[in-house]
Amino acid sequence: MIKTRLSVYRRLALGVLAIGAAMALPNRTLGAETPKPVFTKDIAPIFQEKCNDCHRKGSMAPMSLETYQDARPWAKAIKDRVATRQMPPWHIDKTVGIQHFANDRSLNDQQIATIVKWVDSGSPMGDAKDMPPPKKYDDDNGGWLLAKQFGQPDLVLESDPYTVPAHGQDAWFKPMTPVPVTEPRWVRAVEMRPASLAGRRVTHHALAYLIQDESGKGDGGGSGAASANAGLLMEWAIGKNYDIYRPNTGKLLVPGARISWEMHYHAVGEEIRDHVQLAVFLYPKGEVPKYRTRLHAIWALPAGNLIDIPPNSLAETSNYFVMPSAGRLENFQPHMHLRGKAMALEAVLPDGTTQMISYVDHFNFNWMNNYIYADDAAPVLPKGTIIHVTAWYDNTANNPNNPDPNQWVGFGDRTVDEMGHAWVNITYISDEDYKEWAAQHKPKRGMDRASQQ
Ligand code: HEC
Repeated sequence: MIKTRLSVYRRLALGVLAIGAAMALPNRTLGAETPKPVFTKDIAPIFQEKCNDCHRKGSMAPMSLETYQDARPWAKAIKDRVATRQMPPWHIDKTVGIQHFANDRSLNDQQIATIVKWVDSGSPMGDAKDMPPPKKYDDDNGGWLLAKQFGQPDLVLESDPYTVPAHGQDAWFKPMTPVPVTEPRWVRAVEMRPASLAGRRVTHHALAYLIQDESGKGDGGGSGAASANAGLLMEWAIGKNYDIYRPNTGKLLVPGARISWEMHYHAVGEEIRDHVQLAVFLYPKGEVPKYRTRLHAIWALPAGNLIDIPPNSLAETSNYFVMPSAGRLENFQPHMHLRGKAMALEAVLPDGTTQMISYVDHFNFNWMNNYIYADDAAPVLPKGTIIHVTAWYDNTANNPNNPDPNQWVGFGDRTVDEMGHAWVNITYISDEDYKEWAAQHKPKRGMDRASQQ
């Protein structure tokens, strides 16, 4: 027990130090560049690591980038998408805030320089014998990946099926599924997937929100924004198959709970019918983890959801959430619609200092990226910290996702209406936990300054 607690604190501790370190870092200078990069030796290893999860045969991207023959015709487009940081999809500003993530799929400056140089020097193939062996993908075996660790899941929840036509516009499908629990139960891990391999080609992403009424429990952790909504339980996207909560931490399911699904489907030239499955691994009956993780929708909108975006203009909205107890922020997932441009997540500490936690500077509606902080980087904040979320919208012709810059835009559910909030998982700890943690981890002076604005 004590051991678990100590290791939690140690991991919590590193968080604040990491913010300091990330912010104190000068812009990274480029290392020695490969003089003349070739595909087999220099480019294929980068593509295997950062592109082929999506860009391979039978996956969701429009083309494979596995072999030289696959990639060569796309060289110009690759340079363009990579140099502008549109690919891989990762839209966080690399110069401010926390930079250490559990699911970072971005390229570093040196990888970008190598790819650009390869294209600029005529995209040569290189020696075939330098080609790395093909990468193996372990999600194709039909079984649950977590079964090795936890045995078979306690619950497997299935969405209604959906037929994606061969051709057509992207579709968003939002069915509901009841969760068959008859008493409160704690979740320690979840795994999610489109049911078939064909389904993985048409499923851009799938979200499973947990809807349940805890009003009778008076646990006070609701964000005000949606207190009957326990938040996102799980998200499926290429490369993101499961979540295992930290030791002694979990999410709560109560009787009457439902899963509200949100699937983003896109057509791939043939008709495909599929559904999504969610496997839930529970703590044993009666076992209650010490820490609860709750997902909050922290609004960037003023009271009454007033958004007023005139035609051909930019707009900004913001709002605040006061942390009801000390806690650790696990992730940042900005949510806006087609006019969404950027979102900032800041913390105003009880002593009045401000920290920029994360800033997404080139939000793209098609990619609802979730930025999950690495264990050693997730920020730990005291009770009373004010979380400040600011959203910016671009209703001009400069925004490539804008369907019509001459329209006035207000609040609403449709993608042509707007919305602005951040989904943030917060693991709440007690004031005693926080004090113990803070006593062990006094920030160093230099870092202290660097982490303040
Ligand atoms: C998470 C999945 C994913 C990853 C990782 C990813 N891509 Fe993509 N890529 C896509 C999807 C889906 C599209 C088509 C939709 C879009 O453009 O957003 C795309 C589009 C592209 C295009 C434009 C194709 C066209 O039609 O013009 C290029 C070029 C590209 N990707 C290159 C790359 C490279 C190079 C990498 C790695 C350095 C990479 N992508 C990583 C999913 C991904």
